[in-house]
Amino acid sequence: MVYLATYGPIEVAAKSSATAEKDDDCKELLREALRLHVLSNPAILKCYGVCVKQDVTYMLLERCHCTLRAYLDRYGAFSPGLAVRLTMHLAFGLSQLHSAGLVHRDVKTGNAMLSREVTPVARLADLGSARRLKSLVTSVTSNTSSYGIRGSTGTCSRPTMNHKM
Ligand SMILES: Nc1ncnc2c1ncn2[C@@H]1O[C@H](COP(=O)(O)OP(=O)(O)O)[C@@H](O)[C@H]1O
Ligand SMILES: [Mg+2]
Repeated sequence: MVYLATYGPIEVAAKSSATAEKDDDCKELLREALRLHVLSNPAILKCYGVCVKQDVTYMLLERCHCTLRAYLDRYGAFSPGLAVRLTMHLAFGLSQLHSAGLVHRDVKTGNAMLSREVTPVARLADLGSARRLKSLVTSVTSNTSSYGIRGSTGTCSRPTMNHKM
């Protein structure tokens, strides 16, 4: 769940997991907050920190205008120039993530935010599914042939995994 909240004088988006009082969910949320905080990059959503209220843990995020998905649904396609610019932001954000050894695993317009700046910047968001690449790369080539791929069920798209090899 994501709520509108205030952090001192600034408006923030406060994200909790639905069951943040459970230990595992709480750890997952803290991991996401730490990753966003450490990555600190204009193309990645900013995290100011975390707080606990009535036993629920929240991470405090830069409040954005909306997701790219919501913008497209509301206003239709971006102009070609803006589409290229926003795509470049997201590609840069992803490259920073990959340089840090992380795989996002849920890249979509619903997980990309438009900043509230006059000239909007697209920020990569929702690292809830992100994992360290090291822990994911396993060989799945055992039952196959010349189509051998490397990856895991966690990082391959469904069509890839369903492809008869
Ligand atoms: N920083 C933010 N500013 C404004 N809205 C946000 C922000 N972060 C998330 N939201 C809203 O909350 C929704 C869910 O956030 P997200 O981080 O994608 O969590 P999840 O998909 O895991 O529920 C987004 O689609 C968006 O509508
Ligand atoms: Mg999401």
